[in-house]
Amino acid sequence: MVKNLINWIDARIPMTATYNRHVGQYATPTNFNFWYFFGSLAMLVLVNQLLTGIWLTMNYVPTAEGAFASVEYIMRDVEYGWLLRYMHSTGASAFFVVIYLHMFRGLIYGSYQKPRELLWLFGMLIFLVLMAEAFMGYLLPWGQMSYWGAQVIISLFGAIPVIGDDLTLWIRGDYVISGATLNRFFALHVIALPLVLVVLVFLHLIALHEVGSNNPDGIEIKKNKDENGWPVDGIPFHPYYTVKDIMGVAGFLIVFCYVLFFIPEGGGYFLEKPNFEAANPMKTPEHIAPVWYFTPFYAILRAVPDKLGGVIMMGLSIGVLFVLPWLDRCKVKSVRYRSTLHKLNIAQFAVSFIVLGYLGVVPASPTLTIVAQVFTFTYFGFFVALWVYSKNEKTKPVPARLTH
Ligand code: HEM
Repeated sequence: MVKNLINWIDARIPMTATYNRHVGQYATPTNFNFWYFFGSLAMLVLVNQLLTGIWLTMNYVPTAEGAFASVEYIMRDVEYGWLLRYMHSTGASAFFVVIYLHMFRGLIYGSYQKPRELLWLFGMLIFLVLMAEAFMGYLLPWGQMSYWGAQVIISLFGAIPVIGDDLTLWIRGDYVISGATLNRFFALHVIALPLVLVVLVFLHLIALHEVGSNNPDGIEIKKNKDENGWPVDGIPFHPYYTVKDIMGVAGFLIVFCYVLFFIPEGGGYFLEKPNFEAANPMKTPEHIAPVWYFTPFYAILRAVPDKLGGVIMMGLSIGVLFVLPWLDRCKVKSVRYRSTLHKLNIAQFAVSFIVLGYLGVVPASPTLTIVAQVFTFTYFGFFVALWVYSKNEKTKPVPARLTH
């Protein structure tokens, strides 16, 4: 009966063919390591955000008068509301941890290089939409940091010449951040951007399966096939990587649940302390800082003395990642077979990113501003140096087969 049912469906939509193409017969390199867990984990955290978000929406009130109290109501009176809320707020931070590691993997193994440029571009669009999604979500609890964080970021648009003031007015829907702003952010956060995200993730995976996965050796397994047309260094995604990914999920859930149940506010980094106070347009918090996942870019913004200049540099710091596939002119992908200079450059980039992230959290001071300027320089220096040395880089010989 099951076989008949499958045949009946297959005659109408290509169910089995799609399953085989993308799971059962999808040839995956044999040497995936730790870094390859984060794609499936990104899907897990995305599903977590979507599901907990739907349930939060059932009790959340998107008005300036009701928002803060409705979140308190969810935390205290709704059955397991505290769990749903913390899964969502801690989940947002987990999402960025996973995504940054996922992107870093792409960076070290050259997964953005030809033929995966489009895959990378879809990834970058996902990253952009994810940042917008997180930013709008943070206004919803209508706490002090929600309000003033949004105030700082939206006012940045005011630095744009000619249209700046009208643009900020248009974004807020009012002369100040108000219920009108909250309403539109709610609409974008719960439906518009999640839809865009899901579509982009779908395209990301289509693009991945069209060209096939890269791997820690940066060797194209499709170039070496046996007489049946199956890559000699390939194994089917299922059962090999479904099982391996389950191990990654288990490891992730141990860490995630620990944070969720013991330090859900992440020491004030996942849910900032001023956000336990309702938004008050008459009282500016002493120190306004965005949530940790925005702080590297925020530090770049603050490092530039001029407001418009800061906005441009911050935009560029994200924008330059879009053109990464064309900045790297080296034919070798994986860091394993690239020059010492490239290894050092990636290491200094990672350090710059982390230091900038730290600097964005702490209050600015004249000395720290200089430190931020130095690391802004090294952040951009990564891309400039890569473009310069990658053309004639001294690489090591790449093996013909995958290594283990
Ligand atoms: C919701 C967010 C995302 C999801 C659900 C997602 C999902 C995935 C999955 C399942 C894979 C295959 C498994 C793996 O290679 O780990 C993958 C590969 C990849 N992703 Fe993402 N991704 C997301 C965001 C991003 C972002 C922001 C970037 C970078 C800008 C990116 C770049 C890549 C690249 C380059 C690959 C191929 C890696 C390789 O084959 O070596 N992804 N993604």
